[in-house]
Amino acid sequence: DKPRVWISRPTFPGIVARLEPHFEVTAEPDEVSFSRGELTARLAGQDAAIVGLKERIGAAEIAGATRLRIVANLSVGYDNLDLDALSAAGIAVSNTADVLNESVADYAWALMLGVARRMGAAERWLRAGHWHATEFKAWLGMDVRGRTLGILGMGRIGQAIARRAVGFGMPVLYHNRSPLPAATERACNARYVDKQQLLRESDFLILVLPLTTQTRHAIGAPELALMKPTAILLNVARGGIVDDAALAVALRERRLAGAGLDVFEGEPTVHPGLLALDNVVLSPHIASATTETRRAMTSVAVDNVLAMFGHGPHAGRPPNILNPNVL
Ligand code: GLV
Ligand code: GLV
Repeated sequence: DKPRVWISRPTFPGIVARLEPHFEVTAEPDEVSFSRGELTARLAGQDAAIVGLKERIGAAEIAGATRLRIVANLSVGYDNLDLDALSAAGIAVSNTADVLNESVADYAWALMLGVARRMGAAERWLRAGHWHATEFKAWLGMDVRGRTLGILGMGRIGQAIARRAVGFGMPVLYHNRSPLPAATERACNARYVDKQQLLRESDFLILVLPLTTQTRHAIGAPELALMKPTAILLNVARGGIVDDAALAVALRERRLAGAGLDVFEGEPTVHPGLLALDNVVLSPHIASATTETRRAMTSVAVDNVLAMFGHGPHAGRPPNILNPNVL
């Protein structure tokens, strides 16, 4: 009798085949937003689950999942999972740290350049058929070269973002719970400052924090008020880190020049105040969405599930476990 694994999302070719020698696999063929009851029913009877951010799992969802030993999350952030509740039930939790760092860093830069050069608004204008002649002084954006890049949250994604700044000749400031080791700082060409100084001095401020009770609304009205009116805010981390309502007001009143947002409070709903603005570039939480990276993330989830059941090179030691105390 093989253990059972549930994959909540349509997956890549080869993934089910890697699991099938060891598991009875249930793979959802379609993208579904499960209700709490559906999720509870899906998890019941499973020994392992590979889930994404849309699946919010806590004590209620695992109440009937008496055999469940691991939840492998298809993302680096795991605010969709109640880690305490899962740990208390003895369920291991893994994420996909590291394999997405470079793709997310690329995307942060794409958003930054997109906002600075007004790509979203310009494209909408072109598609609307407004382009009749080239105007020399139309669509003026701002150069990024030489401007100060600020990074709030200097984990491995933040560091990957910082490394790219060398080519743009941008000084990098960062704030983090603790400063990086000096050698890492040098490799990233970045300087530690307190949060207030980061807010005051950044021309581009990129958020790369996990969402926790401590980081909720880390950027709200008081923080936005410290930023330069010429500054641009980028969020590739999580909705909820920014107070989206306060951000919409600051942008509308031009107390902030622009924003690039891949994540939102209450996704997939986007604050109507943000949708109404032209000085923002908005995207549907796709910073890690490249073919290579989403495949790699899925593969990492499978590695962790296999390891949990004693298979593969990490047998017995899931490499990305977040609550090793349950082992
Ligand atoms: C993965 O990032 C997801 O959307 O669950
Ligand atoms: C995506 O948002 C992730 O946390 O991987």
